[in-house]
Amino acid sequence: MAVSESEKSSKHERKISTLSLYSPKLSIYLLAICVILLIILQIQSLHTPPPSISWNFMHQCQKAMNSSTTTLNGCSRELKSMAWKLRNTITFLPLKDLRYSSTAQQGHTWFMSSMYDTHEEGEVQYQKFPSEASKGRILCLKGNDTHDGSWNSYALAWPETLPENATLMKGLTFVSYNHYNYDNIWHGLSAMVPFVAWHIKNQCAMPRRWILYHWGELRTKMGPWLTTLMEATYGQTLNVENFDGIKDENYQILTCFEEAVVMRHNEGGMSREKRMEVYDLLRCKARVYCNVSLEGRIAEVNEKGVPVIGMTMFMRTGARSFKNNTALIGIFNKVCRKVETCRLLVAYSNNLTFCEQVKLMSSTDILVSPHGAQLTNMFFMDRNSSVMEFFPKGWLNLAGVGQYVYHWIASWSGMIHRGAWRDPKGDHCPYPDEDRRCMAIYKGGKIGYNESFFSEWAENVLNEVKIRKAEEIASKKNTSRISNACGCT
Ligand SMILES: *[C@@H]1O[C@H](CO)[C@@H](O)[C@H](O)[C@H]1NC(C)=O
Ligand SMILES: *[C@@H]1O[C@H](CO)[C@@H](O)[C@H](O)[C@H]1NC(C)=O
Ligand SMILES: *[C@@H]1O[C@H](CO)[C@@H](O)[C@H](O)[C@H]1NC(C)=O
Ligand SMILES: *[C@@H]1O[C@H](CO)[C@@H](O)[C@H](O)[C@H]1NC(C)=O
Ligand SMILES: *[C@@H]1O[C@H](CO)[C@@H](O)[C@H](O)[C@H]1NC(C)=O
Ligand SMILES: *[C@@H]1O[C@H](CO)[C@@H](O)[C@H](O)[C@H]1NC(C)=O
Ligand SMILES: *[C@@H]1O[C@H](CO)[C@@H](O)[C@H](O)[C@H]1NC(C)=O
Ligand SMILES: *[C@@H]1O[C@H](CO)[C@@H](O)[C@H](O)[C@H]1NC(C)=O
Ligand SMILES: *[C@@H]1O[C@H](CO)[C@@H](O)[C@H](O)[C@H]1NC(C)=O
Repeated sequence: MAVSESEKSSKHERKISTLSLYSPKLSIYLLAICVILLIILQIQSLHTPPPSISWNFMHQCQKAMNSSTTTLNGCSRELKSMAWKLRNTITFLPLKDLRYSSTAQQGHTWFMSSMYDTHEEGEVQYQKFPSEASKGRILCLKGNDTHDGSWNSYALAWPETLPENATLMKGLTFVSYNHYNYDNIWHGLSAMVPFVAWHIKNQCAMPRRWILYHWGELRTKMGPWLTTLMEATYGQTLNVENFDGIKDENYQILTCFEEAVVMRHNEGGMSREKRMEVYDLLRCKARVYCNVSLEGRIAEVNEKGVPVIGMTMFMRTGARSFKNNTALIGIFNKVCRKVETCRLLVAYSNNLTFCEQVKLMSSTDILVSPHGAQLTNMFFMDRNSSVMEFFPKGWLNLAGVGQYVYHWIASWSGMIHRGAWRDPKGDHCPYPDEDRRCMAIYKGGKIGYNESFFSEWAENVLNEVKIRKAEEIASKKNTSRISNACGCT
């Protein structure tokens, strides 16, 4: 995005005003500058070694206020030289600090490693510029490298003394660090959750632009699912900055941000309650965007007023798909038919639009689906809906904690994870079962079935859901209708 004309001209004005020393309001102007510089000096001397600017100069400055324009000229020269020195104390550090490459996923990330997050108990961890924590300084970024994050760098600067040739970007900027990527819907969503939490906590403040980093490398887009989710949530077109149109002879794009919020720990540190607030807003905004009723599953009853139970089989193709869809659908259909108001839907995740997925989940109480990114959609279901997950052989021992992400999302978004089935049979691995090399074979494996186990499992879940829905309907009958507004509208 190009800098708007008004941004350019205000920057220009700032430069010009420093030079207009012969105006009638000269002494007031100088006094103001002296005071500002005094404050800056004092703040800086508290936290960093003071720059080599003599205190004597402040004295001179005071003197100047008392005397003639000849001294004033000398003073203004000193002022300019001091501003110049301040500008040149600004130090850029690499966005990707290789010293922390081995701990990049834990407490200390390699992204902006010299900075600490603001963190209150149970709340999102973030950095805000300018803020008390940044001592009033704003964030500046240099470089737009998309291949090596150690070529991109950051610095803090006081708005009065931005580095030379910096472009100031007005408004609120969201800066995201993601260790994985912005295309996978689960990894992308994890990076977005803290921004939504911050948005809720700060009177629904809207970002003017997003800057996305992966290992310190610039990314200029999110996947389509995530883009639509963010557009629905913020009610505006997503503006991902790519620094196009900002010209610089040195091939170093230097931008400073009037206001910036940086996130680098996904939802880490947030309490379950805070996460649930985020998912509630995402669900609500997505339903509004897709013209789906906000009343959810409560509203759907049969002609006798008994709640309909939506059971949805959300299928994959390729890796981690079911070996025999026909057999699987047959099993669940048989179970569903035993309950009068149960309605079975079968859908494929590979060719549904965002809104089709939102609609599908809005009519689902029980989601039956293999382990995979499509399960991220579960948070579009009403709260307290159920998830049944399926794994191919080998994952339990070899796939690490990442295999539990859908247990986690279920818990964070207020769903009930009803357990996972792990196929005991799978492709042959020539190494011992615990050998990591087997994961390459099992990763793309397909999922079989156990008719007796699935039938019993599905029956149990269905019966529990039936009881829960009856209770919920009874308790909700007396309360007022569900409001048709989300938070942050
Ligand atoms: C400025 O003038 C005032 C009164 O005219 C005097 O008290 C003060 O000491 C002067 N300050 C300097 C730095 O000369
Ligand atoms: C970064 O910006 C410069 C100057 O506009 C441009 O020439 C260069 O291609 C950009 N680099 C990337 C990776 O986009
Ligand atoms: C700022 O821009 C001017 C004009 O393009 C250039 O001559 C100068 O070297 C730049 N300064 C820095 C520090 O990059
Ligand atoms: C939702 O409804 C509005 C108004 O009827 C329409 O303009 C919009 O395209 C619809 N959106 C979707 C995603 O169907
Ligand atoms: C899939 O299951 C159905 C029903 O049990 C069976 O008739 C069919 O032969 C199976 N297909 C394959 C390819 O195994
Ligand atoms: C969606 O994909 C599934 C599986 O590949 C296929 O069976 C189905 O026909 C597709 N539906 C549409 C509308 O393309
Ligand atoms: C979900 O279930 C819990 C525990 O049964 C209940 O307290 C809560 O009200 C339910 N939430 C909704 C949104 O129905
Ligand atoms: C299928 O599940 C049942 C438990 O419901 C178990 O007893 C049986 O051994 C399983 N069959 C196979 C082939 O794993
Ligand atoms: C609903 O209200 C009626 C009458 O006011 C009362 O008898 C009933 O117990 C209430 N039900 C619930 C679930 O609160």
